[in-house]
Amino acid sequence: MLLVHSRAELDAALAEARAEHKQIALVPTMGALHEGHLSLIDLAHEAAAFVVVSIFVNPLQFGAGEDFDRYPRTLDADVAMLGGLRNPPQIVFAPDVETIYGSSTPPAPKPRAGAIGATFEGIARPGHFDGMLEVVSRLFDLVQPDFAIFGAKDAQQVHLVRRMIQRERAGLPQLIEADTVREEDGLALSSRNRFLSAEARDAATVLVDAMIEVVAAIAEDGASASQALAAGRQVIEAEPSAKLEYLALVDKSTFAPIADDFVGEAQLIVAAIVGGVRLLDNLIFEIGE
Ligand code: PAF
Repeated sequence: MLLVHSRAELDAALAEARAEHKQIALVPTMGALHEGHLSLIDLAHEAAAFVVVSIFVNPLQFGAGEDFDRYPRTLDADVAMLGGLRNPPQIVFAPDVETIYGSSTPPAPKPRAGAIGATFEGIARPGHFDGMLEVVSRLFDLVQPDFAIFGAKDAQQVHLVRRMIQRERAGLPQLIEADTVREEDGLALSSRNRFLSAEARDAATVLVDAMIEVVAAIAEDGASASQALAAGRQVIEAEPSAKLEYLALVDKSTFAPIADDFVGEAQLIVAAIVGGVRLLDNLIFEIGE
């Protein structure tokens, strides 16, 4: 495993891999790695012979007053964790801001999240998805991967990256969506979970509880989408340390909210602030006739 910071070092390592006709899989991260990231790396190894993990806390995807300064930066621990893996990535790419956004980077088309980027996460975090798409696009330009692995936990991010790949990058890289990794009690792993107090950590399972309520209301009780969502919202509202931001059902293929007569693959998405920490989760399930 090689740790590289500059574009020249990255280019040299990638040139070697390409000379050996190896396909390349990119796992973009902001560091503070946990088991969830390791599952993305396993999938990357399944897809390609050469795996690049990028670690870059992207200033462009944090708005004013968000946790950019507080976001955990744990490069030494991250590199140690990756180096200790039975199957480590071939490259850890940890660029600075200049390497990503400076003059040495060729201009990339500015991808835009558009109307979907202004819904759900985009309401709480205006501009977040434009900044996220821009860095992902630049990482794609730098690494030119055949595959890119994204965690399903960030549902709206996955939707927008997939759309950008289809619309602006001729279908490359191939996006692989990795299942969310959960604690035993169902809490989705997240780099931000480390900020939860013991009390908030206990309360944080309310997101999963609410999602189970919604799915059960539809699948077992025959409730409509809006009835089921109302039941799910009550679960979160009953938890004093949780503040619900949204609980919604969207069409997995369009990310548009579904109507009560929707049939097909739905995605239940939730965001709530628990003990001061903003948490996200989602579930994909089929709504039948
Ligand atoms: O999901 C993340 O960690 C980030 O949004 C990503 C994809 C690495 C872009 O900065």
